[in-house]
Amino acid sequence: MDKKVSNLLNEQINKELYSAYLYLDMANYYASKGLDGFSNWFEIQAKEEQDHAMLIYRYLHNNNQQVTLEAIAKPDKTYKKIDEPLQAAMEHEQYVTSLINNIYAAAQSVNDYRTTQFLDWFIEEQGEEEKNTNDLITKMELFGEDAKALYMLNSELGARTYSAPSLTL
Ligand code: FEO
Repeated sequence: MDKKVSNLLNEQINKELYSAYLYLDMANYYASKGLDGFSNWFEIQAKEEQDHAMLIYRYLHNNNQQVTLEAIAKPDKTYKKIDEPLQAAMEHEQYVTSLINNIYAAAQSVNDYRTTQFLDWFIEEQGEEEKNTNDLITKMELFGEDAKALYMLNSELGARTYSAPSLTL
């Protein structure tokens, strides 16, 4: 595998684990506010990010590439209003999409079609994650100011369950 592509994938393991940590921090924030449904939603988000990291980890090993695990940064955001983590999550997902696109472009430039095919799943996943986060922001804008509606939205988010990624390696 091309060294640049391999390095970018290796770095992406760290970015996905940071994403998991960032979302766990958001879950932590909502738990502290008594919004257990929002907290559940972000806990599941954090699990999915760990899955993403593991998929890339396995892909590199399956292709005989060395994996180096670096330190995971501390989530450093503080939130003053309950809609702020949602906006931060959206910005973060857009950033992750740009990273995946960047790896895709690097793989394509060296005709590494195995990697572009592997990344197709991530490209679709990013589309879903951006949509899910955006839907949540829209619901908050519509209903977040009303206590009863917020209670129902919190219940709805509490019903989210984890499912393993559709891609297995
Ligand atoms: Fe693994 Fe939310 O991107």
